[in-house]
Amino acid sequence: MNNNILTAAKNEVETKGFLDIELDPSLDLFAAIERLKKEKNAVVLAHYYQEPDIQDVADYIGDSLGLAQQAEKTNADMIVFAGVHFMAETAKILNPAKKVVIPDFKAGCSLSDSCPPPLFKKFKEHHPDHIVVSYINCSAGIKALSDVIVTSSNARIIVESFPKDQKIIFAPDKNLGAYINKVTGRDMLLWNGACMVHEIFSLEKITKLKVRHPNAKFIAHPECEEPILRLADYIGSTTGLLKYTQQDDAQEYIVATETGILHQMMKASPHKTFIPAPPNNNCACNDCPHMKLNTLEKLYLCMEYELPEITMDEELRLAAKKPIDRMLEISKMAGL
Ligand code: 13P
Ligand code: SF4
Repeated sequence: MNNNILTAAKNEVETKGFLDIELDPSLDLFAAIERLKKEKNAVVLAHYYQEPDIQDVADYIGDSLGLAQQAEKTNADMIVFAGVHFMAETAKILNPAKKVVIPDFKAGCSLSDSCPPPLFKKFKEHHPDHIVVSYINCSAGIKALSDVIVTSSNARIIVESFPKDQKIIFAPDKNLGAYINKVTGRDMLLWNGACMVHEIFSLEKITKLKVRHPNAKFIAHPECEEPILRLADYIGSTTGLLKYTQQDDAQEYIVATETGILHQMMKASPHKTFIPAPPNNNCACNDCPHMKLNTLEKLYLCMEYELPEITMDEELRLAAKKPIDRMLEISKMAGL
């Protein structure tokens, strides 16, 4: 393909997706994806919030920390990131020489969007004596303004690695920040951001559900609001929640996070019952509209055409890489 056609194709796929391509309905997508993995030396990394078919075809399924660690150590030539944009961007930051593609370029994140770099830069300038700890659910621009990145599975350990009197700005998730303040006794300054999925769980409906299922354990992701977390028997990252359901001896769980994780929970413990915690709207469960933009068809197409691709300015990449490296280093030392 000549360069002009290639640029036009890239723009088209980034803005509209693979709208004009009709797949042969008899195509076995699972087999086709396996063939492309081999042909292109590609690895498929998927977050637990992806649809079950994508999880089943992935080489690695994990939480944000696990995915970043896998992205760092992969030998593949192409990383196919079945997750949202900031996750694929993190993989690119760690692997400048590799091609990183994402099934749908529009798979963003409300939490990441709640923290625009120009506004955050001003906020940071008002607090020059604070260091910046940022949740990985943020853009490369925010990462570049941060001292260290955290995920929901290492935030506590990383915050505790700083002296007690260290002043800290925590961005962008106010709920995770408030939870970490509570468990560490810190008083971090919180950016006012939140995840659209985790902030709409209904306290009233969950309370009623707990009454109807008195033996069920209630488990929640720390992106949930404080009144919800107060009800929880266990709070943890998606990997933490999954492990808890495998190791704990209850038979029933009410799960307050995105519903995609239930697929792995049911696979790991088929004899147990998992009930998605209800949100504050008319739906019975809680899907992330960004994560669920990715489909098996788009995954296949992005591997076949190697589009849409994550690219990044080198200066920004290097600035964003420093706090990610620091996170990976501390996590390694902590055995995570
Ligand atoms: P973890 O992957 O760290 O559990 O975070 C969940 C999430 O919201 C990712 O977008
Ligand atoms: Fe972002 Fe929330 Fe979706 Fe995770 S679940 S990608 S934090 S909007």
